[in-house]
Amino acid sequence: MVQRVALIGAGPSGLTSVKACLDEGLEPTCFESSDDIGGLWKFREVSEPNRASIYRSLTINISKEMMCYSDFPIPADYPNYMHHSKIQNYFRMYAEHFKLLQYVRFQTAVKHVRKRPDFTRSGQWELVTENKDGQEERHVFDAVICCSGHYTYPNLPLKDFPGIDTFEGKYFHSWDYKGHENMYGKRVVVVGIGNSGGDIAVESSRVAEQVYMSTRRGAWVMRQVSDNGLPLDMIYNTRFVHILFQLLPMRVLNWIGEGKLNAMYDHTMYALKPKHRYLPVINDDLPLKILSGSVIIKPNIKEIFGSNVIFTDGSVVEKVDVIVFATGYNYDFPYLPKDVMYRTGHRVGLYKHVFPPTTEHPTLAVVGFIHSRGPSCPRLKCRRAGSLEFSKVGLHSMIIQSPLQVGFVCYMDDLAGEIGVRPSLPWLFFTDYPLFKKVLWVLSPHISTASWDRGGGTVHGGPSSPSSTACTKLSRQERFCIL
Ligand SMILES: Cc1cc2nc3c(=O)[nH]c(=O)nc-3n(C[C@H](O)[C@H](O)[C@H](O)COP(=O)(O)OP(=O)(O)OC[C@H]3O[C@@H](n4cnc5c(N)ncnc54)[C@H](O)[C@@H]3O)c2cc1C
Ligand SMILES: NC(=O)c1ccc[n+]([C@@H]2O[C@H](COP(=O)([O-])OP(=O)(O)OC[C@H]3O[C@@H](n4cnc5c(N)ncnc54)[C@H](OP(=O)(O)O)[C@@H]3O)[C@@H](O)[C@H]2O)c1
Repeated sequence: MVQRVALIGAGPSGLTSVKACLDEGLEPTCFESSDDIGGLWKFREVSEPNRASIYRSLTINISKEMMCYSDFPIPADYPNYMHHSKIQNYFRMYAEHFKLLQYVRFQTAVKHVRKRPDFTRSGQWELVTENKDGQEERHVFDAVICCSGHYTYPNLPLKDFPGIDTFEGKYFHSWDYKGHENMYGKRVVVVGIGNSGGDIAVESSRVAEQVYMSTRRGAWVMRQVSDNGLPLDMIYNTRFVHILFQLLPMRVLNWIGEGKLNAMYDHTMYALKPKHRYLPVINDDLPLKILSGSVIIKPNIKEIFGSNVIFTDGSVVEKVDVIVFATGYNYDFPYLPKDVMYRTGHRVGLYKHVFPPTTEHPTLAVVGFIHSRGPSCPRLKCRRAGSLEFSKVGLHSMIIQSPLQVGFVCYMDDLAGEIGVRPSLPWLFFTDYPLFKKVLWVLSPHISTASWDRGGGTVHGGPSSPSSTACTKLSRQERFCIL
């Protein structure tokens, strides 16, 4: 019988997993290696090894309605795409509201997680932790939930950049980028057109002499501010759109989507048109920066020689001062035994992205380990793990490798099905038409489209306080149905 649960990490995944454990009557202990909650969202002036890092200007690129926990709306006076300091405040409010802090042991890193010698019978795990003074401690837990994040280890593929050792300027990974203060008057090359690359290129271009953005396969670039000024994900991340995705052939959907993006600006003309057909980057400012010439798009780098950067189309940029490798991240769970989780590249051996299927007892779970085309905040996912139906998950014969990338609605519906709260649209249509409409058009339980208004040039949406309005207007069942 699972009772004592260890959680590793007090970021957004860890906090809500602690709450899920408490909801299920379990005894959580959350080990956090840093001195604060919030994980990636706790800004630090200097990046710290083995921890995610953000830059000073970062704002969320998922609207607040989609990113908040379903049981705790983000305050109404917080902007839709807020600064990282505000979302960190929100996580603090969440932790204080549900009295979670008492379960967190700060400055205590988990070094090892091992099966107990009697694991076959007990399903228990042994943890070794180390506190800030270097003192080790051993613990035994009935179950372990890993919430240690997966944007921790910078991917710096220097071997793909011949001549980097001759580079006369300075180079670093986007993980080390904090702001554009060292870019004044510099000639900068940003490698990679993910969201980090886009943000860093745009921000640096405000002060740099010239910014070049190198991409090996381009990207579809989307705007956060969408039709009628509403947040992009609020309009397109709905169950209705998801149903269209299931009904229409992919090439038709791509044709519609790409047509819409090209209507904003022709991706071929902007040298952005990718070889792949989806997975967009979100950046409202990049097109204008390209149009004004402060960011110049370049293909992949072929070679670096001294301060010259040579691209695959044969063009050369001279006197480069800085190269920023915005080349993404690798993931790792260094505290876990290697045989616990099967993985190859960006595919992992986790059932539903939560449970390693090969352990004799399903008493180990991973929360937050997805790349979602939507928010990454993992409330429903940790309800799945937190409800610790560990004992019911008979997966020993299944090896499931799933890509990290998931479709938000699909994945949430799948998990909702697992815990018996997946909405049945036909049933709702006949029994509760108002709820049917909400479920079809609104994914967040905290969006009341009727409450959207424009005041003082700002769009305000959602509830007025964490404990009130939209959250309580919808019944518990309704909220499950929506999220
Ligand atoms: C630059 C950037 C911007 C992003 N923007 C968005 C966004 O706008 N919207 C969105 O939804 N998602 C965004 N994400 C995704 C982001 O990962 C999630 O929002 C969220 O932070 C994931 O939470 P987490 O708790 O799983 O991991 P993290 O936030 O990384 O937290 C992990 C925690 O575990 C702790 N830890 C790690 N190892 C150990 C150990 N061995 N022992 C003890 N503690 C440990 C760490 O100290 C940390 O506190 C962004 C990611 C990046 C890199
Ligand atoms: N809230 C925000 O505004 C915000 C800001 C930044 C990041 N984020 C999030 O943080 C996460 C990580 O984003 P990220 O931009 O750091 O990483 P990313 O999305 O993985 O993008 C990495 C980029 O580097 C390129 N790349 C990787 N290896 C390369 C190589 N060897 N040579 C050339 N190019 C290479 C990739 O090209 P290919 O596509 O060709 O592989 C891709 O363009 C994402 O979830 C993102 O949404 C959010």
